[in-house]
This record gives sequence, structure tokens and C-alpha cells, in this order.
Amino acid sequence: MAERTLAIIKPDAVAKHAIGDITHRYEEAGLSPKAMRMMCLSKTCAEGFYAVHRERPFFNDLTTYMSSGPVVVVVLEGADAVKKNRDLMGATDPKNAEAGTIRAVHGASIEANAVHGSDSVENAQIEIRYFFAESELR
Ligand code: CMP
Repeated sequence: MAERTLAIIKPDAVAKHAIGDITHRYEEAGLSPKAMRMMCLSKTCAEGFYAVHRERPFFNDLTTYMSSGPVVVVVLEGADAVKKNRDLMGATDPKNAEAGTIRAVHGASIEANAVHGSDSVENAQIEIRYFFAESELR
């Protein structure tokens, strides 16, 4: 089976009508959406998703931000999907992101940085399961 990763198009990117551009970039890079859902995360849902960051000073701001407006949660599948998506996204802080990457083009700040992407195959499995049932991923 090809590798899978989880992407989230964050509230800032949804608000600036960048869903189409970002999903186009995934498809152009050979990452096929296997499941996709537009939704509003509750604060509790965002806290559960980012639980690994709960001791970080930015945790409250991050989870408040992620529950501030609709997001699009996407399972992407393709060869080397985790790394390929990280390359497409660019560095966490848009100021440091390579020109032409999603965060360089659409990100506004380290918090409003347009997209999330799983950082490892193991975390991708955990993150995909957080949002999607196996029956949605055939
Ligand atoms: P993301 O890839 O979604 O994973 C955790 C998020 O925390 C990250 O993107 C950033 O948007 C956000 N964040 C906010 N402040 C920081 C920070 N100082 N360092 C790292 N991530 C941060």
C-alpha cells in the first residue's frame, strides 16, 4: 500500500480561499486525497489532536486558533507521502519557508501557517485515525 499522511488546511487558509490552490498542489505532486472533510474543530478536539504539544507555551493559543473557524482535514496517499507533503508545506514559520512552498505563499505567521502535515509515518497513522474511520479509507 502506498504511504498515507494527514494534512489540515487551517482556518487562515480556508478564510483566504486557498483550499483549491492547496489541494491542487497535493494532486500535482502525486498525493491523492483518499478522504477529505470540512469541519469546525471544537477546542477539545483541537486539544486532543495536538496533545503531544500540551506542555508547550503555545498550546492554548494554537488550539484556540485551530478551533476559530472551519478547517479541511485530508488524508493524502502516494509514494513517500509524509516527506513529500512536508516538502510541499515548507518550514513551520512562513518567514523561514522556502519560496514557492505552501506556507511561504499562504502562511501569515507561525500560528496561522496555512497547513498542518504529519511529521512521521507513525504519527500519520495516529492522526488519520483521529479523524477518519477505516471504512472511510477504502
Ligand atoms: P503544525 O504543523 O500544525 O504543528 C504544531 C503547530 O504549532 C505548528 O504547526 C504551528 O502552527 C504552531 N506553533 C505555534 N507557535 C509555535 C512555535 N513557537 N513553535 C512551533 N510551532 C508553533
